[in-house]
Amino acid sequence: MNPDAPLVHLNGTFLPRSEARVSVDDRGFVFGDGVYEVFRSVRGRMYAPDAHMDRLREGLATLRIRIPESIADGTLLEVARRLLSENGHDEGEATIYLQVTRGSAPRTHHFPDPDIPPTVYLSTSPFEPRHDLQDSGGACILHPDRRWARAHIKTVNLLPNILAKQAAHDADTFEAILVRDGMVLEGSSTNVFGVMDGVVRTYPAANYILRGVTRDRVLALARDRGVPCLEEGLAVEELAALDELFLTGTTTDVLPVSRVDGQVIGEGTPGPITRLLQDAFREDLYGRPDPEAD
Ligand SMILES: Cc1ncc(COP(=O)(O)O)c(C=O)c1O
Repeated sequence: MNPDAPLVHLNGTFLPRSEARVSVDDRGFVFGDGVYEVFRSVRGRMYAPDAHMDRLREGLATLRIRIPESIADGTLLEVARRLLSENGHDEGEATIYLQVTRGSAPRTHHFPDPDIPPTVYLSTSPFEPRHDLQDSGGACILHPDRRWARAHIKTVNLLPNILAKQAAHDADTFEAILVRDGMVLEGSSTNVFGVMDGVVRTYPAANYILRGVTRDRVLALARDRGVPCLEEGLAVEELAALDELFLTGTTTDVLPVSRVDGQVIGEGTPGPITRLLQDAFREDLYGRPDPEAD
């Protein structure tokens, strides 16, 4: 491992994390004017890197933040892989955090004029999945969705998500399921799927939810296995009639929900479709077991 580890990558330079500095004028710090991604990696292999980069580019374009060349052409992924390896995080499981802000300029609400270079930051961390909750199922609470109406952009403005997650934490539960106009949208950092009569349902990917990379993979894996899926919202009143409920996310994988606000979902244990999709997702994430291995 590199003796200066952990290293980070800031504006084109690898440097020890303890030496990385961002200006107090950075618009990420002052306004939360930026976007981010969290990638997962297993033994140095990044999972669905192109889907994450596509979402990042879309977010940058929507917010009219200049797209750095290394993100436009995807070469930043090579930097991320090198960072994993320099930090020795390519041996087990890890996450990669990537943040891009509009950059650093004297404080004005409108965009700096002339345009400024964005701030680009990458770091890696070792990661341990919640196998315990993936096996047993986790409890959730319902929480009003107090976010803006452009939740499809993965901005660093996470205050409503943070407050919702804290409410879940205060209630000794895993996740807060966000509700708007009586509909279940998503979790504070996850997407939500219900199963009723063999059909998987999740909120449509428009402006009110983040279109999760894991969500899209799980939908594709389900359809490949002949499981019918509808991108159609669930009403809160329908929760009591669900057979199964589960969450998906980059650091959550496929996680069964056993209770919502204390009410047991289905049998209260992970159901067969959740298990099927958990297995399919694990195979996708970790790769097929090596038939040559012991
Ligand atoms: C609000 C929200 N929804 C869903 C997700 C899941 O997205 P992904 O599967 O891309 O991690 C996240 C991830 O952080 C999130 O913050």
